[in-house]
Amino acid sequence: AASLFESGALAGQRVVITAGPTREPLDPVRYISNHSSGKMGYALARAAIDAGASVQLVSGPVAIPVPERADCRSVTTAQEMLDVCMELVEHCDIFIGCAAVADYRPLIESEQKIKKSSEEMSLKLTRNPDVLATVAGHAAKPFSVGFAAETENLREHALGKLERKGLSMIVANDVSDSSIGFNSENNAALLLWRDANGNGELDVEQCSKDVLAGIVIAQIAKLRQV
Ligand code: CTP
Ligand code: CA
Repeated sequence: AASLFESGALAGQRVVITAGPTREPLDPVRYISNHSSGKMGYALARAAIDAGASVQLVSGPVAIPVPERADCRSVTTAQEMLDVCMELVEHCDIFIGCAAVADYRPLIESEQKIKKSSEEMSLKLTRNPDVLATVAGHAAKPFSVGFAAETENLREHALGKLERKGLSMIVANDVSDSSIGFNSENNAALLLWRDANGNGELDVEQCSKDVLAGIVIAQIAKLRQV
């Protein structure tokens, strides 16, 4: 059986995948978060394993089982996700940022449950670190893949993220159509990358997250030429 795995398109490659949402605590009973089932990240983990890679998931809280033969580190906040990813980056060939990381966290985490008082209240938030951009910018230089959830100007916004975060590839999702993405079973995507010949792209029609994951992993393998 070992020889079967060794012959996959990503044989011997060490893949780290972030998945699921992060949760940013406000007080002992409340948090802010994003919608994310973790399904896309976990599907990528299975596809990478099928391609012969060794896979390490770094996952926020989700309600789905860890794929067989994947290793999973559970995290809660964006900062914890970053800390674990920085531990793993030196032993990582391919990094896929699929998590729905909260862009902001409450500036103050109250030790006690916040009591209600006036009719209006506002929360002060502060920016979270960008896990993907930090990993992609690390000296170990893993082949870094991001996701981009956009409601408008899909290609333009995704290319901006590819550039700004120093990525090798980005998977852009149009989330203006609520029948796909997030908690749904299906997904459609535009894959964008940079290679020696300039820019490349692949439009993937609506399909299951498992099928999309297979296409993303195959494209990564192609660009890596391993
Ligand atoms: N990402 C991350 N850490 C963050 C924010 C985003 O690692 N703090 C990663 C996501 O996992 C995804 C990619 O960056 O792979 C793009 O996430 P997205 O929310 O689409 O983009 P942002 O850079 O956060 O920009 P914005 O939300 O303003 O569109
Ligand atoms: Ca964001």
